[in-house]
Amino acid sequence: MCGIVGYVGGQQAAPLLLEGLGRLEHRGYDSAGVAVLGPGRESRLRVAKRAGRVRDLAERLPKRFAGKVGVGHTRWATHGPANDVNAHPHTDGKGDVAVVHNGIIDNAAALRAELTDAGVDLVSDTDTEVLAHLIGRSSAESLEEKVAEAVARVEGTYGLAVLHAAYPDRIVVARNGSPLIIGIGDHEMFVASDLAALVRYTTRVAHLDDGELATLTAEGFHTFRQDLSAVSRAAETVDVDPAAYDAGDHESYMHKEMLEQPEAAERVLRGRLDERFGTSHLGGLDLDARELRAIRRVKVLGCGSAYYVGEMGAGLVEELARIPADAEPASEFRYRNPIIEPDTLYVAVSQSGETVDTLLAVQEIRRKGGRVVGLVNVVGSAIARECDGGIYLHAGPEVAVASTKALTNMFVGFALLALQLGRVRDLSISDGRRLVAGLQRLPEQLGEVLAQEPALTELAGRLAQAENLFFVGRVRGYPVAREGAQKFKEISYRHAEAYQTSELKHGPLALIDASVPTVAIVPDDELTERNVAALHEVAARGGPLVVVTHAGVDLGDLPAQASVDRVDVPRNERELDPILLTVALQLLAYHAAAALGHDIDKPRNLAKSVTVE
Ligand code: AGP
Repeated sequence: MCGIVGYVGGQQAAPLLLEGLGRLEHRGYDSAGVAVLGPGRESRLRVAKRAGRVRDLAERLPKRFAGKVGVGHTRWATHGPANDVNAHPHTDGKGDVAVVHNGIIDNAAALRAELTDAGVDLVSDTDTEVLAHLIGRSSAESLEEKVAEAVARVEGTYGLAVLHAAYPDRIVVARNGSPLIIGIGDHEMFVASDLAALVRYTTRVAHLDDGELATLTAEGFHTFRQDLSAVSRAAETVDVDPAAYDAGDHESYMHKEMLEQPEAAERVLRGRLDERFGTSHLGGLDLDARELRAIRRVKVLGCGSAYYVGEMGAGLVEELARIPADAEPASEFRYRNPIIEPDTLYVAVSQSGETVDTLLAVQEIRRKGGRVVGLVNVVGSAIARECDGGIYLHAGPEVAVASTKALTNMFVGFALLALQLGRVRDLSISDGRRLVAGLQRLPEQLGEVLAQEPALTELAGRLAQAENLFFVGRVRGYPVAREGAQKFKEISYRHAEAYQTSELKHGPLALIDASVPTVAIVPDDELTERNVAALHEVAARGGPLVVVTHAGVDLGDLPAQASVDRVDVPRNERELDPILLTVALQLLAYHAAAALGHDIDKPRNLAKSVTVE
């Protein structure tokens, strides 16, 4: 949520900042801005910012915008509407200080009142502007002290980068709860809130921890705490392919990421399956067989799609390990003073590893002595670091706001976890081997679902015409329906409501008519007959049906005049089928949004990582 980039070195900063912002735009895209400081006589602060996309900013950047030190920001509005004034960077009104900030300052109202009482004219609605004034008004000697003083007054979360005209050779950055990564170049230094903005320039990085600050000059970086004592942060080389951050020939990142699912699933499985004993090896969990056996309950926490796939995961745990398991939105869990049990395994699931609701839930559990493992995609992210152990998802960078390949790897991660929990309990070796073989087949079958894209494109185009849709499923199929509805509404902006198929006749059937299609998830399992019966009830009321099922599943004699489309996905083991059904729904959502001409990677009002409560 919001992106930060900074540069200090021998090159002109503005083009590098704009390029970096373009790569961070999925984190927030309602406004953007840059500030640069020129050397010597040019050492004046120049700021350009505006509502809209980074490309709008680039097109209107003033001709004279020279400077080899600079910071940039792309915003997802929290305080105040998305307009030019509220865009970052924010300044101290005297042209000395520019600040870009991610996060939320909880005591902004009190700080604003204090500054206003002192005669300061605050021009924006943002919480960030107070930081620029606190820094600008500080009488401390060094920029490091000024920034440390300011952040000491702030309650809340921040990743921030500061320029000051009196210190034209440096950027001072600070982190508390919002990620910041330092990029180390050759006589040049970078900072960004996400690796995506750095990898074109350097793969040598250093991570800041919460409560830490750093000074960046062309020649290096120095990290310190709020009391100015030095703290050592080693540089490391990250193993990433910069091309993984490009959309390549695809029309969007989401399209690229959907098509990457077979290879992403192979990566999360690699080295983790044990054919001989029909189980999985998850070294990162850091739990031996005795500890795994002692688990009496599993509680999954995540937000949005991560929560829906968490429901699929809880189902897998109950089914394979016969341990009571459920999923709950992390955003709700923390606020009901949850009872933390010593023999419960808490599982935090997150693509970004930054989602603040999930992070705060993890902290709450650990504070009360609970054990949390993470299913996280971004290596070294806050949630990954906060957990007791975990399973990295290895999906590769996910840029599109709508999660696809990370979600699939979350499902596979849950299957691996459930298999291991099951095999130290009563799951038989033959069932274990059956599931290992199923997981080995999964990447290829994901490819087979994706190969149905041309047929699903036409169907999705028709679905896009409906203002309202139902997505229905039962038991294993219900979280699939929930995720399908979520993806559909997220990018097509159509009202898609998920329901248990069994609940239709208890109310929502009243809404069914020829204008309301029902997308029904009908796996080949012990509930197929019941599911099919519900299809007949919908068809009898004139409701168009899209049945996502498997070849050979008999839908019975639906009325001749009924509108029925059928999508057959390959069969795996019935426990693993939910993810194949889910991928078909991704394609439907994608092509419905494409048919409506939406900006699929950047759906309105949303952003990739939700780092605010
Ligand atoms: C997914 O399509 C959504 N954009 C959203 O629900 C997302 O899954 C959720 O915000 C959680 O994100 P995380 O996995 O990074 O924690």
